[in-house]
Amino acid sequence: MSWFHSMIAHTLPIVPKEIVRRVSARYVAGERLEDAVATVRALNRQGMMATLDVLGEFVSTAEEARRAGSQYRDLLQAIEREKLDSNVSLKLTQMGLKVDLGLCHEIVRGVVEEAARHGNFVRIDMEDSSCTDDTLAVYERVRQEFPGHVGCVIQAYLKRSLADVRSLAERRANVRLCKGIYIEPARIAYKRHEEINRSFNELLGVLLQGGSYVGIATHDRELVEAAYRIIQEHRLDPAKYEFQMLLGVTERLRGEVLERGHRLRVYVPFGSHWYPYSLRRLKENPEVAGHILRNLFNGRS
Ligand code: FDA
Repeated sequence: MSWFHSMIAHTLPIVPKEIVRRVSARYVAGERLEDAVATVRALNRQGMMATLDVLGEFVSTAEEARRAGSQYRDLLQAIEREKLDSNVSLKLTQMGLKVDLGLCHEIVRGVVEEAARHGNFVRIDMEDSSCTDDTLAVYERVRQEFPGHVGCVIQAYLKRSLADVRSLAERRANVRLCKGIYIEPARIAYKRHEEINRSFNELLGVLLQGGSYVGIATHDRELVEAAYRIIQEHRLDPAKYEFQMLLGVTERLRGEVLERGHRLRVYVPFGSHWYPYSLRRLKENPEVAGHILRNLFNGRS
């Protein structure tokens, strides 16, 4: 990352919200359910599956958590009604993880029960390391009740992930594997690109060898190509894994993955709480500095 890009990334929080909205429009399907449905329909037409995320994280009251659970149950009904090829992804802090663990389990259980009713699936996103143990515990409880309808996420940057993955592979859990997005201390997390990529490949090998279904969630060409090799080595049926990418990111690589005959799912966030998600995506975008400056001076994206 150049010093200029780094400086822009650090000053993003003081960039006017309207400019952030314009520059990050590619990452978010829109504010309304209709926007999300239209985006997923277009992806489905191009041969891609989707996972829908109602943007929002960290609620501080039981009422907000219950409302979020109810939004997801409605979303699962809309997916069925609109005949979309999409599952859903949710965050436990949005379902009250930091309010009351029992309440969070009850809400997530209700969402997964709804998914099971429609033959659908809920992916529980992974948040910062203060949530890891509780997230895996809630996941495991719900998985036992609704196997096949819920999955978790493992972050390759966490040093604990190898142990977690070994235990998940034993249970043939459905796992999304990603690098990890939160800022974690070096005591518990790998920091260097090579270390994180080495960990990602090792975890992917353990999961696939153990018979887990894996969502290979990365835009890093080096990791995508390493995954092709592991898949070929184990002669894996394309029904045993999928690649996953975020809406608006590396669309060319997305096309290449599909052309090679692999399945691909796009993460489609939507909703009124677009701001924190957009900031995270912009900080990862190597071209962010240019986009922000163009918007500041032109008022156009
Ligand atoms: P890396 O960051 O090295 O990016 C590789 C290349 O992709 C970059 O060089 C650039 O070209 C391109 N790129 C990446 N991000 C971009 C952007 N925003 N704009 C433009 N280009 C970009 N994390 C987490 O902690 N918990 C979770 O539950 C999830 N869930 C999740 C689901 C899915 C489907 C994906 C794809 C990712 C996540 N993540 C996540 C985020 C993940 O941990 C990670 O931060 C990002 O995917 C970026 O890492 P990459 O593997 O893409 O590599």
